[in-house]
Amino acid sequence: MPHFAKPAEGSWTQHFGLATEPVSYEDSISPEIYELERDAIFRRTWLNVGRVEQLPRNGSYFTKELDAARTSVVLVRDMRGEFRAFHNMCRHRGNKLGWNDYPREETSGSCRQLTCKYHGWRYDLEGQLTFVQQESEFFDLDKADFPLLPVRVDVWAGFIFVNFDQEAQPLAEYMGRLGAGIADYPFHKMSQVHKYRAEIGSNWKLFIDAFMEFYHAPVLHAKQAAEEEARKLQGYGYEALAYDVDGPHAVVSAGGGMAPPKALSMVHAIERVLRSGLFGVWDAPDIGELPEGLNPAGHPAWGEDSFLFFPNFMILIWKPNWYLTYQYWPTSYNTHVFECSLCFVPPTNAYERLQQELAVVTFKEYGLQDGNTLEATQSMIESRAIGEFPLCDQEVMLRHLHKTCRDYVASYTQGRPATAVPVPAAR
Ligand code: FES
Ligand SMILES: [Fe+2]
Repeated sequence: MPHFAKPAEGSWTQHFGLATEPVSYEDSISPEIYELERDAIFRRTWLNVGRVEQLPRNGSYFTKELDAARTSVVLVRDMRGEFRAFHNMCRHRGNKLGWNDYPREETSGSCRQLTCKYHGWRYDLEGQLTFVQQESEFFDLDKADFPLLPVRVDVWAGFIFVNFDQEAQPLAEYMGRLGAGIADYPFHKMSQVHKYRAEIGSNWKLFIDAFMEFYHAPVLHAKQAAEEEARKLQGYGYEALAYDVDGPHAVVSAGGGMAPPKALSMVHAIERVLRSGLFGVWDAPDIGELPEGLNPAGHPAWGEDSFLFFPNFMILIWKPNWYLTYQYWPTSYNTHVFECSLCFVPPTNAYERLQQELAVVTFKEYGLQDGNTLEATQSMIESRAIGEFPLCDQEVMLRHLHKTCRDYVASYTQGRPATAVPVPAAR
């Protein structure tokens, strides 16, 4: 049976070898489990920190706060055009190298060398220490012994990743079959980028949960359609076209929805005027052939695929030829920073720009509905009044995500001295 075929019998959940019992959410409310996830997951997997367009020239740089991995990194394009990553930290007394007014805010720019604000030590863009203030005052200091601390960096389809594990498999191999299936998508053509960033009061996995199932969409996002249509959508419920997993990664393939709608009466007036909405601009730009990894079920009503590249990077590719990325950066067991980019082929006139803007602001409205709900969920699961929750077959990827996290933590803790940390039994 092809891996993407809907199971002839049984369920997606059983098809992927997952248990069907209620699932413990202890992994989303336990500070101890979060501390383990930081080392077991965020210090050991490939983390997407940006795109190559953010380093357009030799000398370009940007910083990325990676609280979950217990550090900040600086990404540079060195004077030979190579991408490099370093811990954002001076070798003299540990000051953060790249920051402006606020040490915890990210920054970007262009330079020939990185200069520490504290005592003026300087590093070239290959990380070599080139200047020490009052060098003769030091004791047998050889500058060659004090380069910036490198971090592994690699690029997949124009997305820049870092990894703190020297033993980790190469990035292309890590991205697996699902990554290979969309690596040829023309991401670079979609250089009109709109970004949102939000501080969310929930565990990082809860927001991924909300984007890896659409079971909630007809209810929580009922207002996405005109009133009568919204009532009908609730009646239909939701069923994905296909699900697939490859190792820790997953994809949900969804139907076309409203871009364009079957009847104009289904959508709001402004959407009719601008021919755009939550699902994107109805008039798709020509971007050539789509890669094979899209629409895994080969379904004529295909509209969008949501890929989760473990642990925290999602790419949503839409039939009207645009894409979204989501990232979820934990800052504690019950908070995270959510980042979203909406990427379009640049508009060629004011009307096209307005069409894209409508998709962007509509996304924000629905994102806020999700974000509010996550905080409401987090506040109650922390009560521990109820500890296990039944998940339906349309929530199969939630089971997969939480199991993957438990597996990473288990393999990390194996062989370590026993601790009192309550890792819930695998389900
Ligand atoms: S800490 Fe960077 S030069 Fe002193
Ligand atoms: Fe949602």
